[in-house]
Amino acid sequence: MAIWNLGSINIDHVYRLPHLPQPGETLAAHGYGLGLGGKGANQSVAAARAGSVTHHLGAMGAGDDWVVARLDAAGIRTGAIQRLPKQATGHAIILLDAEAENAIVIHPGANRAIDEARLTRDLAGIAPGDLLLLQNETSAQPEAACAAKARGARVIYSAAPFDLAAVCAVLPHVTILAMNEGEAAQLAAAMPQGPGVEAMLITKGAKGAEYRDLRTGAVHHQPAFRVDPVDTTGAGDTFAGYFAAGLDQGLDVAQALRLASGAAALKVTRPGAGDAIPSRAEVEAFLANQPI
Ligand SMILES: Nc1ncnc2c1ncn2[C@@H]1O[C@H](COP(=O)(O)OP(=O)(O)O)[C@@H](O)[C@H]1O
Ligand SMILES: [Mg+2]
Repeated sequence: MAIWNLGSINIDHVYRLPHLPQPGETLAAHGYGLGLGGKGANQSVAAARAGSVTHHLGAMGAGDDWVVARLDAAGIRTGAIQRLPKQATGHAIILLDAEAENAIVIHPGANRAIDEARLTRDLAGIAPGDLLLLQNETSAQPEAACAAKARGARVIYSAAPFDLAAVCAVLPHVTILAMNEGEAAQLAAAMPQGPGVEAMLITKGAKGAEYRDLRTGAVHHQPAFRVDPVDTTGAGDTFAGYFAAGLDQGLDVAQALRLASGAAALKVTRPGAGDAIPSRAEVEAFLANQPI
C-alpha cells in the first residue's frame, strides 16, 4: 500500500531578535535558522520515516532544490512535486523575541497555485487501500479527495489551520478527520450535528489523543508519553503522518495510536519541524522503554 500526500511545502526562516519590531523600526537579528516546514512536508517526512511508501503531491517554485533533496533524503517520492516557475516556494518568516514570543508571516506561494489537471493525472496511480493525506495549506483539496475516494482510497484530512469553508468543501470525501483540540472545538461550534465522517482523530497535546469511530461509537484513548518538551512545532503533523503510516502498514487503531504518540513525544524533545521528526528505529527504541 502507499500514502499520497497533497501537502504544503514551506521554508521556515527563523530570526532571533531582542524584541518584536514596531511599525517603522529596522532591527538586526542576532540569530538565524533555516528549516523545512509546512504541515504537508512534515506529514510526508513522518510517514516516510515511519517506513511507508510516501508520494508527496504539492508544489514549489523553480529554485530551492535543497528542499527536494531533503525530502528525497527522508525517503519521500518527490517526482510528482510541481515546480511552478512563476511562484515562490511557500515560506514562513518567524520572528522570536527573548521570551520566545513570536510573530509569523506566511507566504503560501506555490502551495496555493497547484495545477489541478496535473494533480489529477498524478493521482491516477492511487489504488484501493492507499491513503490520501490532506491539510488546509494547499489549493485543490476537494478535487484530490474526490479523485482518491472514487478510486477506493481512504482520505485522512487534517482540518488545520482551521477554515470552515475549506472543511465543508472536503468533508463529503473524508474518511478520517484529524484535528487538535482547538480545531475540534471550532468544528463542534460550527457543526453541532457532527462532521458525518467515519472517524475523528483528536490530538490533545500533553493530554494525549483519541480516535472516535463514529460508525460504531467506539473511542480509543492514547495517553501522551511523559517527556520534557522543548519545541512542539510539528507535533500534530508527526502524529498524523505516523498514524497514517501505521494504518497503511496494517496496524490496528490502538497500535497506530501508540506508534504515533511515541513519534510525536520524541519530536517535542527536539527543536525544529520537518528536520526534527524521528525515524522509525528511534521511535521503536523509545517505545520499548515505555509502559504499555
Ligand atoms: N508536551 C507533550 N508531551 C508529550 N507528547 C506531546 C506533547 N505535546 C504534544 N505531544 C504529542 O503530540 C500530539 C499532537 O500534539 P497537539 O498539540 O495536539 O497537536 P498540534 O501540533 O496540531 O497542535 C499529542 O497528541 C501528543 O501525542
Ligand atoms: Mg498543539
